Amino acid sequence: MSDAATPTAAAPPVRNYAMSCKTLVTQEQIWAATAKCAKQIAADYRQYNLTESNPLYLLCVLKGSFIFTADLARFLCDEGVPVKLEFICASSYGSDVKTSGEVRLLLDVRDPVEDRHLMIVEDIVDSAITLQYLKRFLQAKKPASLKTVVLLDKPSGRKVSLEVDYPVITIPHAFVIGYGMDFAESYRELRDVCVLKKEYYEKPASKL
Ligand code: PRP
Repeated sequence: MSDAATPTAAAPPVRNYAMSCKTLVTQEQIWAATAKCAKQIAADYRQYNLTESNPLYLLCVLKGSFIFTADLARFLCDEGVPVKLEFICASSYGSDVKTSGEVRLLLDVRDPVEDRHLMIVEDIVDSAITLQYLKRFLQAKKPASLKTVVLLDKPSGRKVSLEVDYPVITIPHAFVIGYGMDFAESYRELRDVCVLKKEYYEKPASKL
């Protein structure tokens, strides 16, 4: 990755967080992998002659993917890919570390997306229940194309079979937080992706 593509925030490469979590992927590793993925997307979408009036629609799945979407959009900008942004909100975890298995759609896209090139932008795919639901939901809107880009792919968690078009980083089985991802709505602001220690989320709330 060239220096020009690297966001310039002067953050130290090693950051210390609360003892309840351990860094798994640093922000710098995320940026390097995302820049590479943006290059691949740019190459693959050349066939569609994307322009301002025929852009790639990034569908940011709130809340978890707000930081990843912001970074991906800017790396795509570096590659000359015109994008527009839409936001969709789906939730299936609540404040638990395990999926409820039931996806609640809390916010739909604002503009019509029929005949548009859509890219669902997710922070993580674990059971894949959310992404499967969103793919079906958006396919029904008859887009010109529909693909998926996911920062963290956790294949060990799959409950439904689903292939991600652009998996950025594959991670092992662990409950992760940071870089947009939460535990009971906390920790989204961490720069890195961290593993939340089991002792922490298995403690009764009164002892946290
Ligand atoms: C998380 C994440 C994905 C989904 C992935 O969302 O952002 O959308 O879970 O898990 P799955 O593959 O097992 O379905 P969550 O329900 O926690 O909502 P949030 O993004 O608002 O935190």
